[in-house]
Amino acid sequence: MNNVAVIGSQWGDEGKGKIVDWLSSEADIVVRFQGGHNAGHTLVINGITYKLRLLPSGIVRQNKISIIGNGVVIDPWALLEEIDEIKSKGVKVDTDNLIISESANLILPFHKEMDEIREDAAGKAKIGTTRRGIGPAYEDKVGRRSIRVMDLISESNLDHRLETVLLHHNAIRKGLGKNIFRKDKLKKELLKIAPEILKFSQPVWKKINEFKKLNKKILFEGAQGILLDVDHGTYPFVTSSNTVASAAATGSGCGPNSINYVLGITKAYTTRVGEGPFPTELKDEIGDKLGTRGKEFGTVTSRKRRCGWFDGVLVRQTIKISGIDGIALTKLDVLDELDEIKMCVAYEIDGKKMDYLPAAFEDQLKVKPIYKKFKGWKSETKGIKKFDDLPKNAKIYINELENFIETRISSISTSPERNDTILIEDPFSD
Ligand code: GDP
Ligand code: IMO
Ligand code: MG
Repeated sequence: MNNVAVIGSQWGDEGKGKIVDWLSSEADIVVRFQGGHNAGHTLVINGITYKLRLLPSGIVRQNKISIIGNGVVIDPWALLEEIDEIKSKGVKVDTDNLIISESANLILPFHKEMDEIREDAAGKAKIGTTRRGIGPAYEDKVGRRSIRVMDLISESNLDHRLETVLLHHNAIRKGLGKNIFRKDKLKKELLKIAPEILKFSQPVWKKINEFKKLNKKILFEGAQGILLDVDHGTYPFVTSSNTVASAAATGSGCGPNSINYVLGITKAYTTRVGEGPFPTELKDEIGDKLGTRGKEFGTVTSRKRRCGWFDGVLVRQTIKISGIDGIALTKLDVLDELDEIKMCVAYEIDGKKMDYLPAAFEDQLKVKPIYKKFKGWKSETKGIKKFDDLPKNAKIYINELENFIETRISSISTSPERNDTILIEDPFSD
């Protein structure tokens, strides 16, 4: 078994970065395939913290190749800034270890402005986006007017592409009473940085096929989580890409049969940043406790993450939607001090019991969680490396969770540090 896709099974921030970094010791290639710098993936290695937004989490390891696939939307300035930042921490980033798809679509300043204009205008109905321009950039992609990495090669082509996309944006901006976005300044700025981006640009689909022939192990690194998927998430409070495992194939240019194992990253409780339904949310002392102990502040926007109990109904649902083979359960240690822990095992809507989250937003708001209670273990799990060494009540909670979601737990994470992870089943082994 060669290739593994790692995806978030909740609303993002499940600890994908930590697990991808840990697993990448076994991989040759790490590929980002969707999302953009709305992602914030944190790695802690020997006490040093690395925060990655666009760069794949394999970048910090030597002799690994990192790929940004065609499905990612790239803010070129944000990428260059991130490369400089990570280089300043002693990490090597050059054309030997970073490849960017020539077909990836660019996030430009008018996308970020449009994201902000819409969010500000929406008032209480806002989505709570990261305001990075993700939505408007994906809209231009499917609207077939986007500017892609390869468009930076020729000035005349870039000029023509900018003309097309700005015709659309300026019509909307005029309607909203905003100033017209000028082409020439942006073109000049893009041409200035073009060589720095283009030097990494390659046909990623071709490279991946070459790596496959050489039997290289590929790790596909998802961003966000399935509940933020534009088709399967809590629409409209979602991001603008498909976050499910199959997006790894379209977002990098290989078939679905290139993914041999789907690993779902799952927090031992639940968090969400931004607006939208959250059935098990705790707006009380326990919610605050989880937030403080779990350091639940956004990596990208520093916003406080909303916290709640583990929602088994939702995770069981997202596992089925994305064909998850195994789960990496993260942040177990955050529950260490609690007297009692709850797990949502069913919903009630208008007096009726439900075993899944209905798709309509109005119904999602009415959901009442039905909980199963567990005794806390009240002892430290940080740094435990073997399942058998976990406290008895922690094992009871984990076993029940595993049975409820009908999927094997293949690893358990007990701290932000790379090696504080219990391995149960290796996703890369046959
Ligand atoms: P991602 O977006 O899924 O990569 O997750 P983030 O990096 O945004 O958020 C996860 C946070 O939890 C980061 O600060 C990690 O360092 C931290 N983290 C990951 N695994 C664990 C764990 O098992 N225990 C604790 N306490 N923190 C963890
Ligand atoms: P990682 O990869 C958590 C959320 C935003 C907002 C919604 C839409 O670190 O898990 P967008 O800017 O994408 O249009 O915002 O999606 N969101 C995330 N929440 N983790 C993320 O990424 C997220 N990326 C986007 O907060 O609710
Ligand atoms: Mg994150």
